[in-house]
Amino acid sequence: MPNHDYLILHGINLNMFGRRDARIYGTATLEDINSALLNVAGQMGVRLDFFQSNLEGAMVERIHRALDDGTRGVVINAGAWTHYSYGLLDALNILSVPVVEVHMSHVGAREEFRRHSVIAPACCGSIAGFGVNSYLLGLMALDQMVQERAQRQRRAEEACTGPLPGMIPDPFAG
Ligand code: DQA
Repeated sequence: MPNHDYLILHGINLNMFGRRDARIYGTATLEDINSALLNVAGQMGVRLDFFQSNLEGAMVERIHRALDDGTRGVVINAGAWTHYSYGLLDALNILSVPVVEVHMSHVGAREEFRRHSVIAPACCGSIAGFGVNSYLLGLMALDQMVQERAQRQRRAEEACTGPLPGMIPDPFAG
């Protein structure tokens, strides 16, 4: 039985939030971000699991585990890996659950190299530039997407339950 619904991934250098350039990233620490997420998750009635690493391989292995640990969706701030890690892109592409990319800063308005996300093709969408709210909005967007998918799945299953008994003659009936 999984003990969480959504996985929150924080990439390289993000354990330093609160001690990094405050003009860009504000003063919230990673703990502040996680507790704000837990607060919103509680209101939404979903459970979260958190993972932060500065090691690309460790992050990739955590993503692999998400295949089998009940994860129903992912919010990821990949930090600088966003802009160059094809390993991370490949790992995210293995997942079939929705992934939402988030960034504290407005990456599209910063240095040229930050304007491109190599992980974007593995993500449903991205939210950037709203500080801690990027994470909160990302979580809400993810939940909405997961619920919509589940509803479509239920409808498809209902539509595939076959004809009602008696509508088609049973060829094996005696
Ligand atoms: C970041 C943006 C990245 O370009 C940068 O390398 C980070 C943080 C953000 O949250 O704004 O480490 O992902």
